Amino acid sequence: MSKWTAADLPDLSGRTAVVTGASSGIGLVTARELASAGARVVLAVRNLDKGRKAASGITGQTEVRQLDVSDLTSVRAFAESWTGPLDLLINNAGIMQVPLARTADGFESQLATNYIGPFALSTLLLCRT
Ligand SMILES: NC(=O)c1ccc[n+]([C@@H]2O[C@H](COP(=O)([O-])OP(=O)(O)OC[C@H]3O[C@@H](n4cnc5c(N)ncnc54)[C@H](OP(=O)(O)O)[C@@H]3O)[C@@H](O)[C@H]2O)c1
Repeated sequence: MSKWTAADLPDLSGRTAVVTGASSGIGLVTARELASAGARVVLAVRNLDKGRKAASGITGQTEVRQLDVSDLTSVRAFAESWTGPLDLLINNAGIMQVPLARTADGFESQLATNYIGPFALSTLLLCRT
């Protein structure tokens, strides 16, 4: 069996994707490849300047929006501002092995970033699309 690569992505023209944590790492590569396949890609990032810089290096249709997945106020605001269809949600943003810290909502930060935020985001976006 041959190894799957981004070249195996189907034509995503007319599709809309959200990639969280798309300003660097795997999220940036994912955003780039989805846009290259024709999707409109929303880079959902906590640092807008970093996100805009990342988007400027992507060929295709992109948009940068503010999202801190560890903060439920930010997650709600992102979901509530969403209009129109959404075909792909890539819950990529994440952290690991960080020092103990609490979010504004009082959750341990890794739990909030990797699980609670993505769960809330997915559920709220499902309710809107
Ligand atoms: N690389 C691996 O080998 C590996 C293995 C297993 C799992 N993963 C998971 O795969 C995902 C991507 O990994 P990676 O290596 O690309 O990680 P990375 O280079 O550390 O990038 C993580 C991205 O998530 C963003 N992010 C972190 N917290 C955020 C928050 N609260 N709100 C919004 N964005 C946030 C970061 O934004 P900033 O640019 O602003 O910091 C960054 O763009 C992560 O969830 C990671 O845990 C990675």
